[in-house]
Amino acid sequence: MKVFVAGASGALGVQLVPELVAAGHQVVAMTRTASKQDGLRALGARPVVADALDPDAVARVVGEAEPEVIVHQLTALSEPTSAGDMRHPERSFAVTMTNRLRTESTDHLLAAGRAVGARRFVAQSFAAFRFARTGGPVQTEADPLDPNPPAALRPGLAGILHLEQAVTSIEWGEGLVLRYGNFYGPGTQISLASDAQMAAPIRKRLFPIVGDGGGVWSHIHIEDAAAATAAAVDHGQPGIYNIVDDDPAPVREWLPALASALDAKPPRHVPRWLGRLAAGEAATIMMTDVRGASNAKAKRELGWQLRYPSWRLGFTKGLG
Ligand SMILES: NC(=O)c1ccc[n+]([C@@H]2O[C@H](COP(=O)([O-])OP(=O)(O)OC[C@H]3O[C@@H](n4cnc5c(N)ncnc54)[C@H](OP(=O)(O)O)[C@@H]3O)[C@@H](O)[C@H]2O)c1
Repeated sequence: MKVFVAGASGALGVQLVPELVAAGHQVVAMTRTASKQDGLRALGARPVVADALDPDAVARVVGEAEPEVIVHQLTALSEPTSAGDMRHPERSFAVTMTNRLRTESTDHLLAAGRAVGARRFVAQSFAAFRFARTGGPVQTEADPLDPNPPAALRPGLAGILHLEQAVTSIEWGEGLVLRYGNFYGPGTQISLASDAQMAAPIRKRLFPIVGDGGGVWSHIHIEDAAAATAAAVDHGQPGIYNIVDDDPAPVREWLPALASALDAKPPRHVPRWLGRLAAGEAATIMMTDVRGASNAKAKRELGWQLRYPSWRLGFTKGLG
């Protein structure tokens, strides 16, 4: 099939494009940066350059490509986040711009897909920090979302919700939303690279366990996330899928293991009140109260198999 990937040069895109090519698909890879075209060609794709915030440019490149499937992997989450943004992520450029990509650019890509007669649309969403903070530690796609998220997360969550509703309600094709877990592995925030966004503060012991560290996180290796995305191009009914590993775990379990894998000293412990004072309410809730996600539906319906079923294996073998 002809598959159009928006965000093909991103952390997930560069893993996804070769998977699609190996599966025999023709891949048209969109970037806004002309200098990245050779890299995309080397991955086996035909590059196109367009700004995803420009509806005419999106309509033009999608119209010329005439894809059967569109994959939306646009974010601005790799934009540098300053320390001051931790208390107010909603004010950061990364979140504001990602919100525009998840609202305006989603609408531009959907309009272009409809106009060109695409039959499937697969979009990136996020599983972590979404679920109601009641009930068991692991939640499914059918479980309710947090009706009262911390104020600092609300703008970002509104953008994600727009994307999920817009994609799953299309009538001209099949809309699938992939709610990824917390990425780790090459090119992500948790890797052996010295500037990896989340690994860097862990190495400096600036990422403590807050309170009882009971917040349950679902991780996913970037290669497994790409494999699930490639599977979603031609498997699965329309709807929402959690793309996470088999092993949701509390912060107090995975954070020391990650610090050890990064050759860092064990994380410090700080009481909840101090966490709230230093990092804000949203970060404290992420460390103490959030729920993890189940991948049963994705494994069943996408025919997806994980190379790293647990972060326990992935943190030791898959960060490089
Ligand atoms: N994805 C998530 O849910 C998530 C959540 C938390 C943390 N993170 C972390 O954030 C980092 C980034 O990961 P990522 O794969 O989401 O993002 P990424 O690697 O920055 O990729 C973003 C993609 O979107 C494209 N893009 C952005 N703005 C665009 C525009 N206006 N027009 C056209 N294309 C545009 C980029 O294209 P060009 O740059 O080629 O122009 C790039 O291909 C990783 O460290 C990851 O672990 C991600």
